[in-house]
Amino acid sequence: MPIRQLSAGTVNRIAAGEVIERPASVVKELVENALDAGAAEVEVVTAAGGLSLIRVGDDGCGMSPADLALAVERHATSKLGDEDLFNIATLGFRGEALPSIGAIARLSIKSRQRDAAAAAHEIVVDRGVKQAVRPAALNVGTCVEVCELFSATPARLKFLKSERAENMAISEVVKRLAMAHPTVGFTLTTGERAGLKLMRQPLGPDGQLARLGRIMGREFLDDALGVDIEREGVRVAGFAGLPTLHRPDPGQQYLFVNGRPVKDKLLIGAVRAAYGDLLPKARYPLLALFVTLSPREVDVNVHPSKAEVRFRDAGRVRSLVAGALRQALEAAGHRASATGGVGAIATLARGGGTSAPASSSFAPRPASGFPRGSPLPRGFGEAMQAPLEGLAGPSADARAAAEPAAADLLDRPLGAARAQLHETYIVAQTRGSVVIVDQHAAHERLVYERLKAALADGGVARQGLLIPQIVELDGDEAAALAEAAPQLQSLGLVIEAFGAGAVMVREVPALLGETDINGLVRDLAREAMSEAGGSLLEERLAAVCSTMACHGSVRAGRRLTAEEMNALLRDMEATPHSGQCNHGRPTYVELQLADIERLFGRR
Ligand SMILES: Nc1ncnc2c1ncn2[C@@H]1O[C@H](COP(=O)(O)OP(=O)(O)O)[C@@H](O)[C@H]1O
Ligand SMILES: [Mg+2]
Repeated sequence: MPIRQLSAGTVNRIAAGEVIERPASVVKELVENALDAGAAEVEVVTAAGGLSLIRVGDDGCGMSPADLALAVERHATSKLGDEDLFNIATLGFRGEALPSIGAIARLSIKSRQRDAAAAAHEIVVDRGVKQAVRPAALNVGTCVEVCELFSATPARLKFLKSERAENMAISEVVKRLAMAHPTVGFTLTTGERAGLKLMRQPLGPDGQLARLGRIMGREFLDDALGVDIEREGVRVAGFAGLPTLHRPDPGQQYLFVNGRPVKDKLLIGAVRAAYGDLLPKARYPLLALFVTLSPREVDVNVHPSKAEVRFRDAGRVRSLVAGALRQALEAAGHRASATGGVGAIATLARGGGTSAPASSSFAPRPASGFPRGSPLPRGFGEAMQAPLEGLAGPSADARAAAEPAAADLLDRPLGAARAQLHETYIVAQTRGSVVIVDQHAAHERLVYERLKAALADGGVARQGLLIPQIVELDGDEAAALAEAAPQLQSLGLVIEAFGAGAVMVREVPALLGETDINGLVRDLAREAMSEAGGSLLEERLAAVCSTMACHGSVRAGRRLTAEEMNALLRDMEATPHSGQCNHGRPTYVELQLADIERLFGRR
């Protein structure tokens, strides 16, 4: 076959194949255009998952009739004045979206410039056929309507998901762009029950957080740590969720580069490194981070729908993002997810057996005390007895816990230890709250942080075993573990191969105290097997620390003295990240006195 130049229509349809993957891609391109036009309000309406209709209206700068005619031409753009691909300050720059959409659907653009004298005009491109510009009626701005999407390329229709899924993708696109532009108002109507209405927010971090809260939820709002660092012209700002707030998928990790939502492996890796050991395996934090840097430092022209970027100095950006997050998380100290305490109160209010619902302030007060002779609500007696048992125990120290603690302990963030319940939970009192600590989870985190600090400090103190202990394993496990021996040694665990299916343990980290060496070595072996050659050394060490900490910590079920309890609380206050255990669960919950009072109808 001879070579021939493809027709403009075919070329546009080919381009459309890249740029317009699904209805949400059209929404993305049109909303980006509205934002580039300086809109203060953007309105999106779709029908049938975007297939029968997508309409995007804005109050931006608008277009003249001549611009309208040009806008739908291929490679026509107002955004690359200097044709410098390394100086892009707009979301669009390729001049491909409108001609691509016009090639595969019926496209109508109505527009009117801000200038008072200007009149509105419309242009229509119907499946590649461009009509003449004609007068139309419209207020200031631009209104783009796309009907019968993919009717010119019906094969594409087969690849689409359900209407519901397409609606969700559309909503996601609008949300992402809205997060990066909090001063712009957005509405989205897709025909699904809940549309989206986002008011304009003031410029600045408060406005930004308010916008993020509307999109990511109230929980995020409560648990968001502010991030804002600038170094050598790169700024990393935004909000990061506490590690106790996590999800099974990374869908709530929102990353932006120069106002552009991106899915960037490098940035995702930086987030993973920063949260690394604070989260359980395969759980993801919630965050919205905005990286801003000179357009010269980042190439946005690497992906047709501009979802990926390339940094000139990737290492620097990565370490700045990881560092900024780490710093914010460290500053949060022992603070655990606020939702723990609030959730606990809500649960109590729902199923407490006494009468008061959460909103009891308007309900009649329950009669004080239980009617004489009536049985106590189930579970109540048990809860009452537990502390008494603890206090009547053999230890005088435990009794001391009931004595009013020195006043200054009440002023500490985690308060004064008052009792131990079920040999598992420490109950402490502050001036305005009751704090309940999971002793195992908390101690595990402390041991872990100490191990890591010692490691960074040049090595973990070891303690020799009087009699070396042999641990039987299967052959592969033993081999994998023996291979990891040098790493383990830096962490204070000295082992050597002992025949084919066993290892000999000579020394253990002094920090761990008395430990079930068998259990520890077995867990480590299993880990060594599954991670063999896999993750980074850093992550593997963290995993080993975590396993060791789990074995070295005060197990649930051990009775603690008052001193031990208070020492644990003070340690938690002084240790970064002690608000959650190595598996990402909170180590304590704090119940505000005011909430408890409300629970009992006292407020
Ligand atoms: N909503 C709008 N308001 C004002 N001008 C617009 C709007 N949408 C598109 N335009 C104009 O049409 C041009 C072409 O748009 P498009 O095909 O999306 O390419 P790009 O955005 O890459 O420039 C833009 O450069 C812009 O000048
Ligand atoms: Mg565009």
